Amino acid sequence: MVTWIFGYGSLIPRPDFPYVERQAGFIQGWSRRFWQGSTDHRGVPGAPGRVVTLTPSPGERCWGVAYAVDPAHRDATLARLDHREKGGYAREVVAVHRRTGAPIHGALVYLATPENPNYLGPASLDEIARTIARSVGPSGPNLDYLLHLEEGLRALEVEDPHVFELARITRRLIGA
Ligand code: BEZ
Repeated sequence: MVTWIFGYGSLIPRPDFPYVERQAGFIQGWSRRFWQGSTDHRGVPGAPGRVVTLTPSPGERCWGVAYAVDPAHRDATLARLDHREKGGYAREVVAVHRRTGAPIHGALVYLATPENPNYLGPASLDEIARTIARSVGPSGPNLDYLLHLEEGLRALEVEDPHVFELARITRRLIGA
């Protein structure tokens, strides 16, 4: 049986693991927010960037991509993702809905809760944009993370006002 992994951040444009199927889908009752600090990818200790996590939002849905991973690649894929996301993310199980509404039960998702030490929490979009515009980490500029995510969501033809508005403000800030 395949293992489903739901991506809502960097896994949308850059899954970075082998998969046998890719499906646009959403999870119900969650919103994507740039509330997690990144000191190992898009920022550094003392100057964290901002990356996405999920926050409970009754009535909302978060669109992303569900990837089916073959059993032969399951352990290596999860080990790699656990390592890549060790800066505060934990694995949870969610139900993903395909565009058709058909559910995928038991998908895995990486989630950073307010209890983790890198959590930054809510801020105005202007403040988040300023952080993203200036932050750089070992994986590259925080701006690239935001713009690749925006591009991935637009390719899926889904709405995300938080990400799209943030991208607009950040572009204006850097004069792009
Ligand atoms: C993702 O789903 O793309 C993702 C988000 C945060 C941490 C790890 C993966």
